[in-house]
Amino acid sequence: MSDRSPIIAPSILAADFANIQQEVEMLNRSEADWIHVDVMDGEFVPNISFGIPVCKAIHRHAQKPLDVHLMIIKPERYVEEFAKAGAEIITVHYEACPHLHRNLQQIKALGCKAGVSLNPHTNVELLEDTLQDIDLVLIMSVNPGFGGQQFIERTYTKVKKLRAMINAAGSNTIIEVDGGVNIDNARPLLDAGADALVAGSFVFRSENPEATIAALKAV
Ligand code: DX5
Ligand code: ZN
Repeated sequence: MSDRSPIIAPSILAADFANIQQEVEMLNRSEADWIHVDVMDGEFVPNISFGIPVCKAIHRHAQKPLDVHLMIIKPERYVEEFAKAGAEIITVHYEACPHLHRNLQQIKALGCKAGVSLNPHTNVELLEDTLQDIDLVLIMSVNPGFGGQQFIERTYTKVKKLRAMINAAGSNTIIEVDGGVNIDNARPLLDAGADALVAGSFVFRSENPEATIAALKAV
């Protein structure tokens, strides 16, 4: 159990892209800690979202760190451009990186924090040999590609297992959970050991996104 408050990272994927400046300004005013930026290539995931120019546009208005989630194959082709576009955290997918250790080194050499994301079917134990090099693990609690999907309950078990691994290693790796996060599963996720929560639809589809962010922060 823990009473610490979570890092809240609203996902801009669920925002109104026609009013991106206002949406980012709302996040600036809110209690959000990071802005989660979902990049999809139509190859690693069956959907295309947006890329570097949109990330730059978000960064131009953002007063909070950009937490960039790359759902793309061969991310090494683009991490430098995302770092230049304002990313502070760059997360790549375990399943997209046969040379994961090299990807992490590349991200860190650019001065960014390095994250690794795991799809729902990927076992957290696969990170045992790289954990000391990972700043953040992003546990997918839905299959990546779309916002608005239902939270997978098995996620709690994965978060608990990963928390135990991180504690045993004495590392500071952050655990972030992404997909179907809402006011009901936020506290159980924190209690399982999560540090950071991504929320897209739950924030942007709510009547008052700022108040919803505050509610998540206060769970
Ligand atoms: C899914 C993305 C998520 C998504 C979360 O592929 O990685 O960040 O935007 O959206 P919700 O909170 O609606 O599940
Ligand atoms: Zn994401």
